[in-house]
Amino acid sequence: MADQTAEITWRDDRLPVSVKFDDPYYSKDDGLAEARFVFLKGNDLPARFQPGFHIAELGFGTGLNMLAAWKVWLDAGIDGPLLFTSFEAYPMAQTDMARALGSFPELAGMAEQFLSNWSPGDMHVEMPGLLLNVIVGDARQTLANWNGHADAWFLDGFAPARNPELWEPGLLGNVAGHTTPNGTFSTYTAAGAVRRALSDSGFQVERIAGFAGKRHMTIGRLDTVK
Ligand SMILES: C[S@@+](CC[C@H](N)C(=O)[O-])C[C@H]1O[C@@H](n2cnc3c(N)ncnc32)[C@H](O)[C@@H]1O
Repeated sequence: MADQTAEITWRDDRLPVSVKFDDPYYSKDDGLAEARFVFLKGNDLPARFQPGFHIAELGFGTGLNMLAAWKVWLDAGIDGPLLFTSFEAYPMAQTDMARALGSFPELAGMAEQFLSNWSPGDMHVEMPGLLLNVIVGDARQTLANWNGHADAWFLDGFAPARNPELWEPGLLGNVAGHTTPNGTFSTYTAAGAVRRALSDSGFQVERIAGFAGKRHMTIGRLDTVK
């Protein structure tokens, strides 16, 4: 897998930027606040949490979204582990991840537990309150072969113009096909082609106000009533 490891440059010495996609991994303003706003609130979490709840994600990146979700799960005190599955084609080196996550002292203890288990490749590990699965490979293939179903999806590719493969209609159709009845998604983008593809896949799609001055983001719920 070594040749697939992500190549990173740093903006302002702390914001990881993908060399391949020329795009940052999260908001320059506050990646953790963005994760909470876009992906947790956007999926109505923690309100919908229940034992066995399963989050899936396109684009594991630094693991920041996962840590934000794990923390709110522990704070909510739900029985058993949160299931978190993420699909990632270019896993980050441990040192790059550690450097990125070092910007979020609130998550330091959890980041340390996670990083002690991480090397860039497939991962299946149980930590207190979390069953984490990272599936390495192009999500267009790996999701088609997955036999799980998520209650909530974090759609977090790089900007659609730079990373169109992670927003292809066929892949988004597969997201819908791997969603529980009335399951949800959220994403920071409001690109028209993405919204249309999600709507054509069976989600009821809504455009709402975005994070930190971004005009819009998108949320949706699988429409199971025909
Ligand atoms: C915006 S970053 C994700 C940030 C991440 N959620 C976090 O918490 O740090 C987008 C991610 O999508 C991954 N990616 C891009 N194309 C992909 C593909 N075809 N299949 C799977 N992952 C892909 C990139 O390598 C990158 O890690």
